[in-house]
This record gives sequence, structure tokens and C-alpha cells, in this order.
Amino acid sequence: MKKLELLYEGKGKRLYRCEDEDLLISEFKDDLTAFNAQKRGNEEGKGVLNCQISTKLFRLLEENGIKTHLVDTISQNEQLVKKVDIIPLEVVVRNIATGSLVKRLGIEDGKVLPFALVELYYKDDDLGDPLVNDEHCLLLDIASESELEELKRLGREINTILKSFFAKRDLKLVDFKVEFGKDRDGNILLSDEISPDSCRFWDAKSDEKLDKDRFRQGLGGVKMAYEEVLRRIKN
Ligand code: TMP
Ligand code: ASP
Repeated sequence: MKKLELLYEGKGKRLYRCEDEDLLISEFKDDLTAFNAQKRGNEEGKGVLNCQISTKLFRLLEENGIKTHLVDTISQNEQLVKKVDIIPLEVVVRNIATGSLVKRLGIEDGKVLPFALVELYYKDDDLGDPLVNDEHCLLLDIASESELEELKRLGREINTILKSFFAKRDLKLVDFKVEFGKDRDGNILLSDEISPDSCRFWDAKSDEKLDKDRFRQGLGGVKMAYEEVLRRIKN
């Protein structure tokens, strides 16, 4: 499939038009950003790692009945994906309290939550991706009531599938962010990516961080952590 012009460049990926008008090529970048791109970095090979990790996880989810935008991988850091209209919401699911949840509500860092917490954030860089509730979403016309229910249900289902997959690989799925899009027929498809850029993984025994928090917190060893996640996923 021939790569045509660049349509959109995000923080972690570039989207290109291709010869099929219903499809796009998604290229995973080596760039790393945090805190709404106030902190920037680059890790050679990160794009390849995230593409491989995300491909594997999307296939796993497809096998478990979750519809996704993934069609195929066409190179080490490129996927062929279905064209969708992205719903401008980040669906965050948390199993263990850390990150912004701890800052916002004062819950103890590392506390295992009694149930999977689902949160919605409005994707708007100028506003700093604020936390929103269902009524905010209706007010802003982001999604209908039934779509919001569907997004939260999908978030929980993805969590159930991924949590047990990672538990078998000695990784705690602490929390993660997913995005969804709508295809031409209005079907909601899991889109974007699932990778150590968009998830938190802690080693089951040592609680060592194996995700983008290594970059956010300046801990070093970013690439080694992503490689370790891929190695365990392949097992
Ligand atoms: P948070 O604790 O900073 O709100 O992050 C929750 C989860 O969402 C964590 O797994 C990282 C992921 N995330 C993103 O993928 N993109 C973002 O812009 C943010 C803020 C978090
Ligand atoms: N992805 C966001 C950014 O680049 C924030 C984050 O993941 O911490 O700014």
C-alpha cells in the first residue's frame, strides 16, 4: 500500500493517506512527550517497539471480541488502519491509584482500587485535556448518552482482557488510556494505540515502573523498559 500525503501529526504518530480511501497509514514516532508536551524527548527505536506492542494487544483484543481500527502492519513502525472519526475523549481505566488520581483526590499512591475506575478526559490540548463527566460530554456534544455507556463498557472490557493477559506475564496493569473512533457506518472502533506510552505497567514482584513514567519522572532506562514489556508480551 503506497503512502501518500501526511494528513495529521500527533505527539506519538503520523497519519498518512493511502491508495484506499477507507484506510490510513499510522506511523509510530520515536518522540516522547509528557505534561502536554512541555517535556520533550526522543528514544531511537521507541516507535518500532510501540508499533509491535500495540499490534499484539489490538490483535488480542480483536480475538476477544473488541472491534478495532487495525487492519495490518506494513512495516516495523507502520500500521494500516481503518479511517475513523476520533471521538475526542480519552477513556482512562485505573486498577491502582497513581498519577493524576493521587494528585487530584489524595488517595495513597499504589493503593489497589476496589473496582476498576473509568474516567473520561476531553481531548483538547489548549484546555490541557480536562477531566469531564457525562453531562459535560452531552453539553459539548461529544457523544450521546448511549455512546458514553458504550465507551465506558468497552473500557472495562478491555481492562478485564488486558489485566489478566499481563498478570500471566508478571506485570500489573496499573492504568491505561484508550481512544475510540467511529467508522462510516457509525460503529465504534478501538483506535490510536495501546503501549507503554499510554499505559502504566509495574513489575508484579518489584513494582518497578516499565512505562512512560520512566520518561515523565526522569528515571532513565525508557527503551529498556519498553523492550522488557515487548519481551513479556511475546512470551
Ligand atoms: P494520569 O494518571 O496522568 O491521568 O494518566 C492515566 C493513564 O493515562 C496513564 O496510563 C497514562 C495515560 N495517559 C495518556 O496516555 N495520555 C495522556 O495525555 C495522559 C495525561 C495520560
Ligand atoms: N501524552 C501527553 C503529552 O504528551 C501527556 C502524558 O502522557 O503524560 O503531553
